[in-house]
Formats: sequence, C-alpha cells, structure tokens
Amino acid sequence: MSTQPTEAESAFAALGGHETFRRLVARFYEGVRTDEVLAPMYPHDDWDGAEERLRLFLEQYWGGPTTYSDTRGHPRLRMRHVRFEVTPDARDRWLTHMRVAVDELDLAPEAEHVLWDYLVRAAHAMVNTPEPGRTPLI
Ligand code: HEM
Repeated sequence: MSTQPTEAESAFAALGGHETFRRLVARFYEGVRTDEVLAPMYPHDDWDGAEERLRLFLEQYWGGPTTYSDTRGHPRLRMRHVRFEVTPDARDRWLTHMRVAVDELDLAPEAEHVLWDYLVRAAHAMVNTPEPGRTPLI
C-alpha cells in the first residue's frame, strides 16, 4: 500500500531530489575552495566529508532522507558554527558561491525562489562575529 507523500517529501521531490542537492553542494564547494576567506576555515583533508555533511543536512531539511540526524545528531547549526568566525563578509561570500550553484541548477522559478529565500535567511542567522574593525552597536 502506498501512502501520500508529506508536504516536506513533496518539497524535496519538487526541487529534484538527491540529484539537485548533489549538484548544488558540489558546485558550491568548487567556489568555496577558491575563496581566500572561506577556504581556510574548512578541513582541507576532508573536503568530501564537508560536502557530504552539508548535502545530507539540506536533503533532510527539505524532506529527504534523515541520514544527517541519524549520523550527526540534532543539527544545532548555530552551535556547530561557533568555532568559525562567521562575519558578514564570510556570509556574503558563502551566499555568492551558493548563488552560482543555485543558478546552475536551472530550477523552475518558484522552486528556485523558495530554495534561495531559505539559504539567504539561514546564512544571515549563522553570523556570529561582527566585521573586524567595526564596533558592535549593542
Ligand atoms: C554563513 C556562512 C557560513 C560559513 C562561513 C560556514 C562555514 C562552515 C564550516 C567552516 C563548516 C565546517 C565544515 C565541515 O567540516 O563540515 C561548516 C559546517 C556546516 N555548515 Fe556551515 N557555514 C555557513 C553557513 C551555513 C548555512 C547557512 C548552513 C545551512 C543552511 C550551513 C550548514 C552547515 C552544515 C550542515 C555543516 C556540517 C555540520 C556538522 O555536522 O558538523 N552552514 N560550515
């Protein structure tokens, strides 16, 4: 007996499923590896692992398999980023590489819009360090 997909499962399918996230994250890391600010933050002996962790997280977030939490536990993403200096500059660079990767997916406009909107909001939420040289207002 088949069951109806949940709303989240349909979102994963509507975005193109595993193949979309594989391509998205692979292209994203191509950019990150060339980025003078971001590249030094990543484990250079484990680029493949970093790529896999981000892909599994995004697949799970969009309603795909729950392998991320099954293997890594609760995402707690802000906590997992505390050891990195995520400045507004790092965020903008992260988003720049994501933008290139999203563009190359050639998704339908509505699917692209929801994916991009999420990535922008998530990236803004990850900032944990003010720009060097700027005094925080509070
Ligand atoms: C805003 C700028 C960001 C920077 C500079 C950044 C940087 C990093 C770095 C250096 C790592 C370690 C790589 C690894 O070994 O896995 C990491 C891990 C990770 N990041 Fe980010 N990140 C950013 C935003 C985001 C956003 C917006 C998301 C989610 C949409 C995200 C999801 C993840 C995930 C899932 C991991 C692996 C966590 C784990 O299981 O250990 N990151 N990030």
